[in-house]
Amino acid sequence: MSYTRLPVTTPTGDYEVVIGAELLGSAADLIRAATPAAAMALVTDENVWALYGAAVAGGLRDSGVRVVEIVVPAGEASKSWQRAGEVCERLAEARLDRTDAVVALGGGVVGDLAGFCAAVYLRGIDYVQVPTTLLAQVDSSVGGKTGVDLAAGKNLAGAFKQPSLVLADVSVLATLPGTEWTSGLAEVAKVAMLESREMVDVLIAEAPALLGRDEQPVVDVVLAAVRHKAAVVAADEREAGERESLNYGHTLGHAIEQVAGYGAVPHGIAVAEGMRFAALLAEVVVGAPEQTRVLQDQLLDALGIERPTYPRDARRLLDAMHADKKARSGTVRYVFVPEPGRHVVVPVDDATIAHVLDLWFDGESERG
Ligand SMILES: NC(=O)c1ccc[n+]([C@@H]2O[C@H](COP(=O)([O-])OP(=O)(O)OC[C@H]3O[C@@H](n4cnc5c(N)ncnc54)[C@H](O)[C@@H]3O)[C@@H](O)[C@H]2O)c1
Ligand SMILES: [Zn+2]
Repeated sequence: MSYTRLPVTTPTGDYEVVIGAELLGSAADLIRAATPAAAMALVTDENVWALYGAAVAGGLRDSGVRVVEIVVPAGEASKSWQRAGEVCERLAEARLDRTDAVVALGGGVVGDLAGFCAAVYLRGIDYVQVPTTLLAQVDSSVGGKTGVDLAAGKNLAGAFKQPSLVLADVSVLATLPGTEWTSGLAEVAKVAMLESREMVDVLIAEAPALLGRDEQPVVDVVLAAVRHKAAVVAADEREAGERESLNYGHTLGHAIEQVAGYGAVPHGIAVAEGMRFAALLAEVVVGAPEQTRVLQDQLLDALGIERPTYPRDARRLLDAMHADKKARSGTVRYVFVPEPGRHVVVPVDDATIAHVLDLWFDGESERG
């Protein structure tokens, strides 16, 4: 077992992200060093419970912690207001008090749900994240956003809640289904475009090893992505400015997820499609060079991220962009990356978006 500790500083609290391989065996020691809790609710989903639940629960019990197991169904539907209420009721029944903690073992769904419960139960108790998907390790476990979906849309209720510790064990990623793997790699590609040309080149060179899930390259990209996100959120916890860059690819990405029907196109795959479109739109709106789009295509292709199937319908996609909570004051704001390592955020009018979407879709059908 070897690991790296990355400190994360935020206005509302500091914590460490511990990243390495074969860490679950030491999870209990690492968690106990981060929180004084005598009782912990281990929140996880059915899939992750079957694979890793016993190891984590057993380790914590052996170290003297009272463990309350809370297992929710796998999938986005568990990120609901109702499910959050049920989890909080379980915390109360088990008599967890202000000195106790919630441990989230799972992907972004479990992390967002458990984090939200930890934020509101008794107005806030300690919270530890053990992310088990690539997406959760590189993105959702860092930054302090927690929440649930409402009928009106995704992530519409939530709270900022910084964890006491994030424990990212890349060994658990071995069991991740293939689509979840590529979906996570897409978020890594996003980070690389925002970060630097160097990171893009490294990812392209390491792509075969990453697709093979080789341990060291995976540890390296998780570290690089967490470093990037930690630096951004340290500067802008509440998304007043810099943090908006992390929405790169998400404007069209979220619209695709909605129009295709949630679950039909995995989040990261939708984001990658959004990045491809943003690069084209950037040429029209901010005069970005074509080489950037070509390079980004090369990166996404190398990572095995194929273009998804969804309704090529500019009108519906535009409507969905407006419904997204991130469209402020009626105008859709786009993150553009004119060259790797540099981004700008620009409001773009509907006519321009629709025009470039139509051009893009027409180009596809001409190529066959
Ligand atoms: N809070 C944030 O800042 C933030 C950022 C990005 C995304 N998110 C949220 O994250 C969620 C998506 O997270 P996700 O992609 O991790 O999905 P997820 O949590 O649904 O996990 C995907 C699937 O993989 C399974 N799984 C998890 N770990 C596994 C493992 N090690 N081996 C085998 N199977 C495993 C799960 O049971 C599930 O079926 C969305 O709700 C999104 O809104 C939040
Ligand atoms: Zn995302």
